[in-house]
Amino acid sequence: MIASGFRDCKAWRDEHLTLTTSSNEACKIYDAILTQYVTWRNDETLGGIAGCMSTIKEADPNFVMGHVISTGLELVGTGSSVRLNERLASAVRRTVELATTQDITPRERLHARAVELFSHGNFPKACNLWEEILVEHPTDLLALKFAHDGYFYMGAQTQLRDSVSRVLSHWKPHMPLFSYLKGLYSFGLLETHLYDQAEKVAKEGLALTRDDAWCVHSVAHVHEMKGEVDKGLKFMETTETDWQGCDMLACHNYWHWALYLIEKGDYEAALDIFDKQLFRRCRASGAMLDMVDTCSLLYRLEMEGVCVEERWRELLPVMLPHTDDHVTLFNDLHFLMALLGAGEAGASGQLLEGLREMAEEPGENYQHQLAGPIGIPICEALVEYNRGNYGRAVELLNPVRYRMVEIGGSDAQRDVFGQLLIHAAMKSDKTHHRKLARCLLAERDALKANSPLTDRLIQRAHALHI
Ligand SMILES: [Fe+2]
Repeated sequence: MIASGFRDCKAWRDEHLTLTTSSNEACKIYDAILTQYVTWRNDETLGGIAGCMSTIKEADPNFVMGHVISTGLELVGTGSSVRLNERLASAVRRTVELATTQDITPRERLHARAVELFSHGNFPKACNLWEEILVEHPTDLLALKFAHDGYFYMGAQTQLRDSVSRVLSHWKPHMPLFSYLKGLYSFGLLETHLYDQAEKVAKEGLALTRDDAWCVHSVAHVHEMKGEVDKGLKFMETTETDWQGCDMLACHNYWHWALYLIEKGDYEAALDIFDKQLFRRCRASGAMLDMVDTCSLLYRLEMEGVCVEERWRELLPVMLPHTDDHVTLFNDLHFLMALLGAGEAGASGQLLEGLREMAEEPGENYQHQLAGPIGIPICEALVEYNRGNYGRAVELLNPVRYRMVEIGGSDAQRDVFGQLLIHAAMKSDKTHHRKLARCLLAERDALKANSPLTDRLIQRAHALHI
């Protein structure tokens, strides 16, 4: 039996979020899964999210929202493609079948349809349906979180913010998980560059729930984007015990911590975080967020001139099984970093070839639609940079730089590609590219003053008489 604190059939009905099932146990497990999703913490006393996904099916095998939350969570994790994973494809079909053959609420029907659309890679339409739910049911936290994740994967920054601000007034402090709205809103604010407001809202969230790892994460972003390296380091150090138990986000928060250290040029300390936290957590979880972070950190260190070849090799077995996934361009690009870093020319070529195939017939898959105009040029730029063809890398990256936001992720995450363009331009044998490097550095310095990393690059440019 699940803990009594979770909401039963009546409690959900009273909140105008009716769940069509006669099983109170199923309703409570649904709440338990939602809670773990929102708090980024697998609660082992509940069996974690995976355990709850099994028990919810035992409690009521035909519970549509049980299927929606289980299948939806696997899909938004972006670690599996229905194209390759028949079990996941069949779970989507089962969700749709149950939704169409039972007398359920319009809200539940929309949820099932949104999961189906997301499984086809149609992120925009899935988000539209989650928003449709929120117009009628602004306290439907599953719809809000799924939309939040969907917008994140599309780099839809304004929507990330507005989606939450639209529903805020409907939430009251007594409602379960109320404080977590602060973290969601704060993230939208910071991705739309409203840093002071973002920090204020995140701190409000932390005052209510100090172990809200997503609020901690927002503050980490604010310090990152404002170049407040020492403040960021201090904040991570003093809050570490609050968020390190949030197993689904801790790796990413450690990644933010390591970014400050790279800024400072303290590569040894950044590598220490990689070895002690990121690599260990990534290998244990296999979660996409952890995987892209490990790749991103090594790639940044490599651009700074640190030798990480051995670590790329250690990472390779974790990345290789995903090179044909093509669920998001953002993931693909990070897998490619690992393949190139480990010197796997064959697998790199295979990843790119697979992506080209997806781009030829993208259908309704939004990521595959963007592969041709954005994803493939960035992938090719990584390959050319790795070959030492720096000028070619600039020619591929520069025209798409203002569309890079569309591959999803945060500004901080995508900065790896901004840095790559600068490095490629500085190393290019074309005078025009080296002049471009100076322009890009001026732009970077203007946007984020007090960045030691930018200062180092500017000094190098001067030394090279660029
Ligand atoms: Fe982040």
